[in-house]
Amino acid sequence: MIDLRSDTVTKPTPAMRRAMAEAEVGDDVYGEDPTVNRLQERAAEIFGKEAALFVPTGSMGNQIAVKLHTRPGSEVVIEERGHIFNYEMAAMAAVSGTIARPVKSSDGTGVLTWDDISAGLRVHTAYYLAPTALVAIENSHNLAGGTLYTRGRTEDVCERAHAAGLPVHLDGARIFNAATALNETVAALARPADSVMFCLSKGLGAPVGSMLLGTRAFIDEARAWRKLLGGGMRQVGVLAAAGLVALEETPPKLHEDHANARRLAEGLAEIPGVKIDPERVVTNIVIFDVAAAGLDAAAVSARLAEHNVLAAGAGTSIRMVTHYDVSRADIETALVAIQEVLTAR
Ligand SMILES: Cc1ncc(COP(=O)(O)O)c(C=O)c1O
Repeated sequence: MIDLRSDTVTKPTPAMRRAMAEAEVGDDVYGEDPTVNRLQERAAEIFGKEAALFVPTGSMGNQIAVKLHTRPGSEVVIEERGHIFNYEMAAMAAVSGTIARPVKSSDGTGVLTWDDISAGLRVHTAYYLAPTALVAIENSHNLAGGTLYTRGRTEDVCERAHAAGLPVHLDGARIFNAATALNETVAALARPADSVMFCLSKGLGAPVGSMLLGTRAFIDEARAWRKLLGGGMRQVGVLAAAGLVALEETPPKLHEDHANARRLAEGLAEIPGVKIDPERVVTNIVIFDVAAAGLDAAAVSARLAEHNVLAAGAGTSIRMVTHYDVSRADIETALVAIQEVLTAR
């Protein structure tokens, strides 16, 4: 199977499996797992933040951040396709008593300018309006097709949010992809944000886990919320060990996934019935439309599966994500399959 549904499907590498088998462990609820402690220290060092916390999922990391930055009855300004708003089970309402105030990006890329954010802000307004407590941004932006906040845009948004008295949380599930595409360090992209979440379990290839980063005081509180939410894990160094390998081993190779995504997009652009602008594919996410082929995503995905290619989608929009378990040869095979599915009658 050529699995292009997501970069979450990556399997641990041999080096990760070895590290997991040999990991030194302790009870992490007592702070005694040396491998988890090393991972947290290393992540904080790479991101230039005071502290980091290993969490089971990106969703938990994001939602702990929402919890700590907001209070019940407040709002979170977020782009309308943001993961925190669309794919985290309304947790911001269930866990934090907040709602999203979705805003559009004026250029359609999913990447917000301060003017876009301002359209949803409620700061110093009437007492009977829910105030904005947090601005949440996503880099790269998953549902928008892996689009990017440059360092300059991140700095601008964060500076102006701070001037308005608002913290910024960065959902950096794929921030290593963003840094690779922009030729920046993850620290440069994360520096202006008050808190950052990134996933070890997506393109970096670890089987489980994400990291939440911020000030030491923020992470101390986050640890308590992780426990409250049922995320206090014990001898979890066996998972952190894979995360440590992922942090060092995978980022230098992410450019290959991006080149494969671009090749996939260019090949797709030549297939009748496909609508895509390959120039907009800058990381590992490829989104294209098949309405002109008279098919929908469910039909295309089902037929592709018969050709051993897995894709995800909704409506007439299909999403394919490259990762280290997909080679250039797999991309060429997938393109042949897509051509057959879309042009066969
Ligand atoms: C942008 C973004 N944020 C957060 C998450 C949540 O990560 P998890 O699936 O580990 O909860 C995802 C997962 O796909 C994501 O794409």
